[in-house]
Amino acid sequence: MRLLVTGGAGFIGSNFIRYLLAEHADAQVTNFDKLTYAGNLENLADLAEQPETKARYRFVRGDVADPDAVAAVFRERFDAVVNFAAETHVDRSLEDAAPFLRTNVLGTQTLLEAARRARVARFVQIGTDEVYGSAPDGVAFAEDAPLRPSSPYAASKAAADLLIESYVRTYRFPALTLRCSNNYGPYQFPEKLIPLMIANALENKPLPVYGDGLNVRDWIHVEDHCRAIHRALLKGRVGEVYNIGGVALKTNLEVVRTLLKLLGKPESLIRFVEDRPGHDRRYALDSTKLRKELGWSPCHTFEEAIERTVTWYRAHAAWLEGCRSGAYRDYYERHYGQREEFVARARAGSRREDK
Ligand code: NAD
Ligand code: DAU
Repeated sequence: MRLLVTGGAGFIGSNFIRYLLAEHADAQVTNFDKLTYAGNLENLADLAEQPETKARYRFVRGDVADPDAVAAVFRERFDAVVNFAAETHVDRSLEDAAPFLRTNVLGTQTLLEAARRARVARFVQIGTDEVYGSAPDGVAFAEDAPLRPSSPYAASKAAADLLIESYVRTYRFPALTLRCSNNYGPYQFPEKLIPLMIANALENKPLPVYGDGLNVRDWIHVEDHCRAIHRALLKGRVGEVYNIGGVALKTNLEVVRTLLKLLGKPESLIRFVEDRPGHDRRYALDSTKLRKELGWSPCHTFEEAIERTVTWYRAHAAWLEGCRSGAYRDYYERHYGQREEFVARARAGSRREDK
């Protein structure tokens, strides 16, 4: 199988490439990635060096929204495309939505067009549960739930999902969409809740919990996500959407307290800070379709896998430090150092526009 993976230098993409090369002796992977702040070739450095994987893995730097770069990579023939490339952090999309629209919407369309012309046999879009918006208590969204994105990030991902649907209908393009819940595991950029809290706790820095900390997320270990993507790639029905989640629903406070306990740090490190504007209260997915049709079920419990995750970050202090240098420090200062001003600016902006 010759596979084009976009965004493979990020968190889930790098875990997926690692998983696929281990599972498929015949898989050849081209990783096409722009290497934004979130892309890190160190995540795959061993694969590019080891004799068993070296000949089956190739990296090409490029932007999915750049038609020339995308056309150039498609000079190679691929059996399938898995599109992970995206701007992914909700908080950053509140500061500036433009890169989200460029990569997540225009980038998806640019890739779709090139893949269609190249007659690729299968295109897997990596989507998110955030497109459904907040789930009321007791409700787990199935694939037919309406799309109600709350953040510019979620709206850009919903737009990408709709583009996929339009290509399936108009061109009978062989694409399918997967919508997963919150992932955790190795190589996650430390702007996201779990690695951020681990990194701060390791340095005895405050742990910034938004609002009352009672927002619920549906946590899945990245390996369980990768296994679902692999199944869908081989056996998923074209034109369909599959939800991936329903594994471990936790409030943010429960997650943060678990991390502090595993790290042997005091709860006094927790700081309640101004809430994220437009913060979805609860995510919960119904993955019955994936379980029934593709025989998927998670292999990891939250309790076991979060402990391994903490151990991984403890053992990879240099990797964490690498991510947190340079531009990350400016982002952190802007976002957390001046949090009240940031939130007030976002709210004042929306009030001005309401008038
Ligand atoms: P990430 O931010 O860790 O990685 C994104 C990768 O995409 C980086 O390597 C980056 O360099 C690359 N990229 C960004 N813009 C690009 C462009 N224009 N062209 C080429 N490459 C570009 O993200 P992640 O958490 O690994 O998420 C991967 C995908 O999974 C995304 O589509 C995201 O929406 C989706 N998703 C993530 C989660 C989660 O919990 N992290 C859950 C559900 C769905
Ligand atoms: O649900 C899937 C989505 O999960 C993906 O599509 C996104 O790409 C991914 O970033 C993630 O989005 P979230 O916004 O849910 O993840 P994040 O780690 O940013 O936040 C998780 C929860 O923790 C959320 O309720 C906000 C809260 N939070 C987050 C940060 C960064 C805090 O309380 N404090 C923080 O500092």
